[in-house]
Amino acid sequence: MENITSYISTHKQRFIDELIELLRMPSVSADPAYSEDVLNTAEAVKAALEKAGCDHAEICETPGYPIVYAEKMINANLPTVLVYGHYDVQPPDPVELWDSPPFEPVIKTTELHPEGAIFARGACDDKGQMYMHVKALEYMVANNTLPCNVKFMIEGEEEVGSESLGWFLERNREKLANDVILISDTGMISKETPSITTGLRGLSYVEVEVTGPNRDLHSGLYGGAVANPINILSKMIASLQDQDNHITIPGFYDKVQELSREERDEMAKAPFSLEGYKKALDIEDVYGEKGYVTNERNSIRPTLDVNGIWGGYTGEGAKTVIPSKAYAKISMRLVPDQDWEEITRLFKDHFESIAPAGVKVKVKPHHGGYPYVTPIDSDGYRAASKAYEQTFGKTPVPQRSGGSIPIVSLFEKELKSKTILMGFGLDSDAIHSPNEHYGIWNYLKGIETIPYFYKYFTELSS
Ligand code: BES
Ligand code: MN
Ligand code: MN
Repeated sequence: MENITSYISTHKQRFIDELIELLRMPSVSADPAYSEDVLNTAEAVKAALEKAGCDHAEICETPGYPIVYAEKMINANLPTVLVYGHYDVQPPDPVELWDSPPFEPVIKTTELHPEGAIFARGACDDKGQMYMHVKALEYMVANNTLPCNVKFMIEGEEEVGSESLGWFLERNREKLANDVILISDTGMISKETPSITTGLRGLSYVEVEVTGPNRDLHSGLYGGAVANPINILSKMIASLQDQDNHITIPGFYDKVQELSREERDEMAKAPFSLEGYKKALDIEDVYGEKGYVTNERNSIRPTLDVNGIWGGYTGEGAKTVIPSKAYAKISMRLVPDQDWEEITRLFKDHFESIAPAGVKVKVKPHHGGYPYVTPIDSDGYRAASKAYEQTFGKTPVPQRSGGSIPIVSLFEKELKSKTILMGFGLDSDAIHSPNEHYGIWNYLKGIETIPYFYKYFTELSS
């Protein structure tokens, strides 16, 4: 029987080539122009799961993009791991800032990735991380070492809010029944410091529209005498945070769980270099909520950020105009026990209430999701921890992340199971940005670590 490290060294090139093929498919869920590609990607994932050794794989239709489901059930008395991932990717924009085309993957070395990294949209988020699980399964099946049952659920709408997932979970509770959910769609501290993500933030995403006069106006004839929606929108947004960068929406913090001094001291032990952080982003200083350090601001504290703002004239040269309308997209990251639907309502009520006479305001809620925190005393966490110890030679650090994967709390609610987040990406992998990449070292390390999770989880839970 071949062990995992020798299996990887034999098949490494093929593992990389297969991922590159998958990355060539532009599965952008946000843009209908790519819908054929998204559907083709689902087919490709299904085929890969069959080839890796699943007994059964299917494309499950939903009101949106399909979910790929596959399984290998070896014995009903053994535990079942449900692997979740997503085959859709973020739009590649702004394309002109990529050094190579987003859907023509290339391997280049970087300071952090001397072994090379694959540059392509979706390389890390989440095709590369999802595909590690397909290759880990291939190894376990080929070597007859799969110790338990496994189910895969790979969706195509994660980057647009997983809108069909609730629908799918409600209708497929039996099919998806499991003992633990395993996801690689987050990051780790560094290659030297493995970490397991123990928390995700929730999200409330809204779009606002401010309307002033019924048409665009000459800014000389009318300027100074009517409300300019862009000026007003800017003021309204600025007022959402006070001098200390606390959010001013009444009730916003009511349900926020404050961490104890001990918990915060524990968090502070995770290795972090503020100098390195600033240097990597070319900023002179960090910025955020008073009373909290960077690693708290981006994980255990809620936020409010404008993601986009537009209106008026943005073309070449100058045009003197007071626009009729101004818009912004705003996201709020949430922490336990904030309820995204309630926060969306609080935002809407507050935002409408601060609009001055002379403008009309519309708030349109987009998607949302609940925050998640996972205990570190579960079989799943222990199994993951032992798996990292095996392949990194170090105990991983538990760490709450600032990102969101809204389905994780939904899984707990609908399927009553805990999720273990074994992410192998790095913050510098530029997910959602131009030049997204995924280290080949990270990719192979993930493939190496995953089979140990199955082994230890099966041992611990039987
Ligand atoms: N994989 C990310 C989330 C993530 C990345 C969590 C890194 C932790 C560390 C996921 O694909 C994502 O982008 N989620 C969105 C939310 C979604 C509703 C669009 C996010 O966090 O913005
Ligand atoms: Mn993702
Ligand atoms: Mn993403």
